[in-house]
Amino acid sequence: MILSIDTSCDETAAALVLGRRVLSNVVYSQVLLHQKWGGVVPSIAKRAHEERIDFVINATIKKILSQKNLFTTKLASPPKLVGSVMPYLFLADGSLFYRNFFDYIEAIAVTVGPGLAPALEVGIKKAKELAKNFNKKIISVNHLEGHIYSPFVQNSKGNPKIDFRFPYLVLTVSGGHTSLVVFEDHLKYKVIGETIDDAAGEALDKAAKLLGLGYPGGPVIERLAKEVDNRDFYHFPRPMISSDNLNFSFSGLKTSFYYFLKKMDEKEKLKKIRELSSSFQQAVFETLIIKTEKAIKKTGIKNLALVGGVSANFYLRKLFRNLAKKYNGQVLFPSFKYLCGDNAAMIGVVASFKAQKNLFVFDIKNLDRMPRMSL
Ligand code: KG4
Ligand code: ZN
Repeated sequence: MILSIDTSCDETAAALVLGRRVLSNVVYSQVLLHQKWGGVVPSIAKRAHEERIDFVINATIKKILSQKNLFTTKLASPPKLVGSVMPYLFLADGSLFYRNFFDYIEAIAVTVGPGLAPALEVGIKKAKELAKNFNKKIISVNHLEGHIYSPFVQNSKGNPKIDFRFPYLVLTVSGGHTSLVVFEDHLKYKVIGETIDDAAGEALDKAAKLLGLGYPGGPVIERLAKEVDNRDFYHFPRPMISSDNLNFSFSGLKTSFYYFLKKMDEKEKLKKIRELSSSFQQAVFETLIIKTEKAIKKTGIKNLALVGGVSANFYLRKLFRNLAKKYNGQVLFPSFKYLCGDNAAMIGVVASFKAQKNLFVFDIKNLDRMPRMSL
């Protein structure tokens, strides 16, 4: 088993995985802490990760121990509780029980970037501490690799049973990232387009903020847009669609939305909130689809995957499905909702493939200085 940790943004996450199977997964969202600021505040995120990381790891382990059948069938013999010692009390000092449990762990996987540096550091520090205390190897994982593998992550029963049919064209759309990547083979990626300013989810969040809809904005905008059948009323600009490259830019769209709203009085804005939400969402999604279609034509790759927080959006999934159909391709999404947003299960699954190739971190001291951005 691999114990994985992700603290790249505003979710404190840990998981236990066996190959592609997730045996246990815990995500402690900080969304309520950041909500009143209208976005993620790095210093608050760091402190919350520090306060919660032990609890989250303990809960992940506790959860697997409660699935006795699964645990005993998957492993030669289950770990023994030491007397009345409860596992979740003893992370910091490396108690006897933990030593026992950690016998079943092959490596500790941790997200090293990209993400908020102060937040990432919390997970990296914890991974180092566990590796040292229990003499485990570390596997470093790029957060975007995690999202790219998310459609292939299976539950504890091994579902969904999809096989890899490389290559894939993967569109990652989250609050922090928008990119088009060719997923060539295991652990082999080629970035062919990315945002030069705001991410798609960030654009939705900012639009929602301008509309007074709170944070995160994506799900609220989805709901309001659906109430008017996702129609386009105002035809806001589709940024960079005529440029030949595959990069995205959403800050111009946000600015034009801002000036459009400025001309409306509050009463009118409120009256038209559905139409505004739907039109903005349409501008973002149509841009995503146009660029993805360009990427299909440029690369000839017809098998698509949509990943990241915004991939939870049913309307965007529908547009993506239609696009794949047009080219007779396959389309993949994360199979479980928790796999759209940030989580450590996807990090653990990437780590399993890295472990097969012996890609452990040997220079643990320099873990926090490893390249963070490149895929
Ligand atoms: O992947 P994620 O949880 O965190 C990052 O790595 O950024 O993505 C969060 C983003 C936010 O911008 C949020 O508004 C957006 O995903 N999001 C959605 C939906 N659910 C979350 N956007 C559109 N529709 C949704 N249903
Ligand atoms: Zn993410």
